[in-house]
Amino acid sequence: MPAAVQTTEVKRTVRRPRAIVLRLQPYGELRHTTPDLINYIDPRDICMQGRIGSGSYGDVYEGFLRNKKVAFKVMQTKKNLTPQTNHASVKREATLMTQITGHENVVKLLGVVDKGPTTCLVLELCADGSVDQLLRKHGPIVTSAQRVALAYQVIAGLKWLHEHGIIHRDLAARNCLLDGRVLKLCDFGMSRTANDCYIDPSAPQNVRWMAPELWSTCTLSYATDMYSFGVLLWELFQRPFQRPYNDLPGVTVRKVVMNGYRLPVPAGMPPEVSVIMQKCFDANPARRPTAAQAEKELGQILKDMVKRQHSSR
Ligand SMILES: Nc1ncnc2c1ncn2[C@@H]1O[C@H](COP(=O)(O)OP(=O)(O)O)[C@@H](O)[C@H]1O
Ligand SMILES: [Mg+2]
Repeated sequence: MPAAVQTTEVKRTVRRPRAIVLRLQPYGELRHTTPDLINYIDPRDICMQGRIGSGSYGDVYEGFLRNKKVAFKVMQTKKNLTPQTNHASVKREATLMTQITGHENVVKLLGVVDKGPTTCLVLELCADGSVDQLLRKHGPIVTSAQRVALAYQVIAGLKWLHEHGIIHRDLAARNCLLDGRVLKLCDFGMSRTANDCYIDPSAPQNVRWMAPELWSTCTLSYATDMYSFGVLLWELFQRPFQRPYNDLPGVTVRKVVMNGYRLPVPAGMPPEVSVIMQKCFDANPARRPTAAQAEKELGQILKDMVKRQHSSR
């Protein structure tokens, strides 16, 4: 994974305002406590092999859980992290994932290894890499309809998360994996439940995917995910694939976005998709579409595209 895409940027201290909770979306129940439903796996049942990915928080290896090919996500032991902190972040991500495992477009958590020297998540393996890798390597042969199909699967997974009270918080092409033709959202390391929605703006943030109001409210919402979904739509259609605002440093991105600048519509993006992207970019989070609305619209766009393709044959 190119370091340029992974970098988390901007360390800044912004004073946290008084609590403003943006509960804008019609999704109901927020979760307060989660019983420990994690499936603990005996380390003798696993066999870890080569590294297949790495991100800002962990390394991912392929291997076996008994006879089944799986992925293992091991949190990086940073200099300032104790084994306890590592254990806590694995457990946190696992607790969240336990709540949302069960949708085709979300990576399934198979269990956690939490004995012996390694603490790691055991995940279903997505053998075909991430969407950013696909678009970098094979961009020229990926059609518009295939791009819409990818977008549709992202929003179907996101709708599921939102219905379960989870804000993903790190939606980006690098966190969408492929298993054959099926796209799966991964990386719940930064995710939050909707009742744990304050962020620390002095911590590193993925600025390029961040809704502008986050800097002033420090409050995550389903609508902040929808802003990131807008940036992801841009990534899906920008040819050749590139990092959003590639020529600008993160601090400048923050400034221009807060002043109202937005990523331009990529040439070749279907106009109906550009309407959704631009609605996701609305400065007013209440005016962005919900995941359910965007899923319905993208589903219709995809159906129409496929119908047109068939009738032109
Ligand atoms: N279940 C999986 N199957 C295959 N590859 C994976 C899987 N999970 C993660 N990866 C690979 O590892 C990379 C980093 O994983 P991720 O969960 O995004 O970690 P981080 O929190 O460090 O960003 C991904 O971009 C992907 O290439
Ligand atoms: Mg990641």
